[in-house]
Amino acid sequence: VFNYTRGHHRLWEWPPSYRHITVDIGGGGDYVSVQAAVDAVPDNNMVNVIIHIRPGLYIEKVEVPATKPYITFKGAGRDVTVIEWHDRACDPGPDGAQLRTYRTASVTVLANHFTARNISFKNTAPAPLPGMEGWQAAAFRISGDKAFFTGCGFYGHQDTLCDDAGRHYFKDCYIEGSIDFIFGNGRSMYKDCEIHSTATRFGSIAAQFRTSREEKTGFAFVNCRVTGSGPIYVGRAMSQYSRIVYSYTYFDDIVAHGGWDDWDHKNNKNKTAFFGVYKCWGPGAAAVSGTSWARELDFDTAHPFLAKSFVNARHWIANSDA
Ligand SMILES: *[C@@H]1O[C@H](CO)[C@@H](O)[C@H](O)[C@H]1NC(C)=O
Ligand SMILES: *[C@@H]1O[C@H](CO)[C@@H](O)[C@H](O)[C@H]1NC(C)=O
Repeated sequence: VFNYTRGHHRLWEWPPSYRHITVDIGGGGDYVSVQAAVDAVPDNNMVNVIIHIRPGLYIEKVEVPATKPYITFKGAGRDVTVIEWHDRACDPGPDGAQLRTYRTASVTVLANHFTARNISFKNTAPAPLPGMEGWQAAAFRISGDKAFFTGCGFYGHQDTLCDDAGRHYFKDCYIEGSIDFIFGNGRSMYKDCEIHSTATRFGSIAAQFRTSREEKTGFAFVNCRVTGSGPIYVGRAMSQYSRIVYSYTYFDDIVAHGGWDDWDHKNNKNKTAFFGVYKCWGPGAAAVSGTSWARELDFDTAHPFLAKSFVNARHWIANSDA
């Protein structure tokens, strides 16, 4: 099923053939729910399945299982095609036990080679008050490898986007939340995105979970805009070797004193985490490079975090998409 791009002799990883499915909440398509369309894709799928999702508010919890790669959710615009649900970490799951954060996501993707275009994902559970336990409520969880998102919106409060595992590329996306609203152990690039904080008393953007020096995971933000309300930390060391870099990024005047946080003041994570900034700007930019352990990088050190090669994208993201 693999083909080579002419002249490059590189393995292009997408199957050559396509299948189209239409979801229309008004009944004019093949299915009225997104999950029904996903269910219609066979296990071990080997074609590109484009699921066209017409404008509408799809109030459902959706899961793309690991057995169904090459699925695209194609909305009609992130303001008009929305999938939303409202689970919180403290809510009971089907087995009666608390869901916990990872199982709250309105949309969960476990498959590789997933794409989303021009669609929004929301978790509409209410915002937690500071100090409240168990109100984590993810809008989206990506646990598959080689996922591409463009023109998408992610809306929630605490833990909006679970960037769990695998290589991911977010282009032209809007991500909104208040506490650790981009979190996990993904190896991801966020390019040309708006990162919007709705924090009231205190918040934080990215919490990255890299656990060893050998792991290639981390979050690379490039040419993004950080907007909204604060004060916020721009990154937190959720694990010992947490890795987060902001490059060419604009910051509103909402960054908390110190800029970054070591999560629990244990184990000297300020010595092992890799937090960096490169050519950032805006009224909040000075605070982002305000600690001894968040370095202003030189070009050679920043370079790996600037290009789509950070996620080895050559074989799975078209140049026109990056
Ligand atoms: C889809 O998203 C792209 C990338 O953000 C954007 O340029 C385009 O205008 C969007 N199209 C629609 C129909 O919203
Ligand atoms: C680093 O973190 C430790 C706690 O893990 C703390 O005691 C120490 O003061 C911190 N050092 C700096 C330079 O912030």
